[in-house]
Parts: sequence; C-alpha cells; structure tokens
Amino acid sequence: MADLTFGIIKPDAVKAGITGSIIQRIIDDGFRIRALKLIHMTLKQAQGFYAVHRERPFFPGLTEFMSSGPCVVMALEKTGAVPAWRNLMGATDPAKADQGTLRKEFGASVGENAVHGSDSDENAAIEISYFFSQIEIV
Ligand code: CMP
Repeated sequence: MADLTFGIIKPDAVKAGITGSIIQRIIDDGFRIRALKLIHMTLKQAQGFYAVHRERPFFPGLTEFMSSGPCVVMALEKTGAVPAWRNLMGATDPAKADQGTLRKEFGASVGENAVHGSDSDENAAIEISYFFSQIEIV
C-alpha cells in the first residue's frame, strides 16, 4: 500500500460543516481519493482504532470525542502520501501548526483538531483496512 495514506475528517469538522472545504483542499493538493465514507463510530470502534494510545491519559477523552458524531474516513493516494498528508494537516496542536495547514485553519485544540492522518506506511495499511474492505478501494 505504498503511496496510500489514511485520513479522517473528525467529528468537530463534520459538525462545523467544513467537510466539503477539507475535501477540496485534499484534491487541490494533488491527492487522489481512493476510498471515502461517512461513518459514526461506536465507542468500541474508536477504542479499537486508537488502541495504540490506550495507556495515554487522553485516551478516554479522545475515544469519546471520536465516537461523539459522524466523521469521514478516507484512503488517499499521492507520491509520498504519508508525509504529504501530514504536511497538509499540520502539527497535532493547531496552535503550533504552520500557516496554510488544515489544523491551523480549522482545528480548535489538540483534541479537536479537525483531521487525523497515519504516521507511517505500515500504520496507513493497518488503518485503511480497519475501515475499508478491498472492494471499497477504487
Ligand atoms: P490523531 O492524529 O488523531 O492521533 C491521536 C490523537 O490524540 C491526536 O490526533 C489528538 O487529536 C489526540 N490527542 C488528544 N489529546 C492529546 C495530547 N495531549 N497529546 C497528543 N494527542 C492528543
């Protein structure tokens, strides 16, 4: 799955009605959208997705937030997709994110930071397969 990454438009951004603006930014940045759907995770599904963070103090708040409303999950293709998507997102903390990044523009806090992205090719493959079957990736 090289050159594919996984992204989420988080519940804060979907609730704010900026899903379309973020998707347009993704397209304008040269990504090809290979899969996309609107879902509403259960708490258990969010806990499974973020299992790597289960010992962290922010885990309960993170999983409660991620299951609090609909979000958009995506498989994105571009050369160097993982770093390219992380560059477009910006730093986890919107206050530290560069100008022109999605989190700078749309994120409110470290927790409610509009978007998620995989941190490695290996995790991108794991995260894509958590939400999408092979037949859903076009
Ligand atoms: P994300 O890329 O979705 O991966 C894990 C998420 O945990 C991260 O973005 C943040 O939104 C969230 N989070 C909440 N609190 C913290 C924190 N104190 N440090 C790091 N991440 C946090």
